[in-house]
Amino acid sequence: MEASLFGLEGKSFIVLGGGQGMGEATCNLLADLGANVAVLDIIGERAERVAADIVKKKNNVRSLAITADVLDDDALVAAIARAEKEIGPLDGMASIVGMAYMGSAIDIPMDLYDLDHQRNLRYIFLAAREVARNLIARGAPGSIVSVASVDGIQASTGHTSYGSAKAGLVHQAKSLAGEWSRYGIRVNVVAPGAMITPRVRPGTEEKERELMKLVPMQKRGGVNDIAKALVFFLSDLSAYVTGQTLPVDGGYTAVGPIDYSGFGAIKGVTGVAPK
Ligand SMILES: NC(=O)c1ccc[n+]([C@@H]2O[C@H](COP(=O)([O-])OP(=O)(O)OC[C@H]3O[C@@H](n4cnc5c(N)ncnc54)[C@H](O)[C@@H]3O)[C@@H](O)[C@H]2O)c1
Repeated sequence: MEASLFGLEGKSFIVLGGGQGMGEATCNLLADLGANVAVLDIIGERAERVAADIVKKKNNVRSLAITADVLDDDALVAAIARAEKEIGPLDGMASIVGMAYMGSAIDIPMDLYDLDHQRNLRYIFLAAREVARNLIARGAPGSIVSVASVDGIQASTGHTSYGSAKAGLVHQAKSLAGEWSRYGIRVNVVAPGAMITPRVRPGTEEKERELMKLVPMQKRGGVNDIAKALVFFLSDLSAYVTGQTLPVDGGYTAVGPIDYSGFGAIKGVTGVAPK
């Protein structure tokens, strides 16, 4: 693929949760396309391994490992300032960190409800605003992209706090796109469906069969499917796209579970029912 098509050469990005899975795949793809990457993760060894691999494989890009907890406001702001200084100025950010409490709404403890909103929505606002403030101060355009979930588009039971936070992320991108388009800053979201990642493994054979009834493409996605979508939004390929959410879900959100072909039809004025 022609790297110049992406317009990423020489640009710099911070990836929050870049230490494994879709975050790691995003860091690697950005570096392959000539961008410098700050790899932030709460587990320092993960960030260091990803950054060291990039530096070893690519002599034309810079990479920096940052150990920080995105849920610590001061640490997050300081990490972005460090990335700006050491591999920046930053042209944007990808946020990957997110996790779900699973359980009935009747029983969810309020501290876990709050945690789901912090780790799937609140920290992303703070980080995006920090990156945007720096871009605006420099008068530079930029791109910000976050990982939501199909649960932020279509609700699932047992996922109230997570799904509502991810839906908030979808809405937040629209609001920020509205406010920051005048500065040339784009804000978009990628919504994964049923993926296989280092943290999320397949269920039992029966559970997987049930799940696949809802996925037209009949397979789970992988970390590279998400990395490609995130990099699309960070790159010039999406130069005229902002405030949008792209489901990467094998068709899950496009097609409902009802198969009308078995229902038959009655003859109407505009057509003839099949025999
Ligand atoms: N896995 C799926 O099937 C699936 C489906 C839909 C959406 N998602 C979303 O995709 C994203 C990634 O999920 P995953 O399963 O690939 O996760 P993951 O755990 O594999 O990757 C996340 C990375 O973030 C790091 N991290 C976790 N908490 C952190 C913190 N507080 N501060 C800094 N770093 C932290 C982890 O160490 C890890 O390296 C999440 O936002 C999740 O909600 C996943």
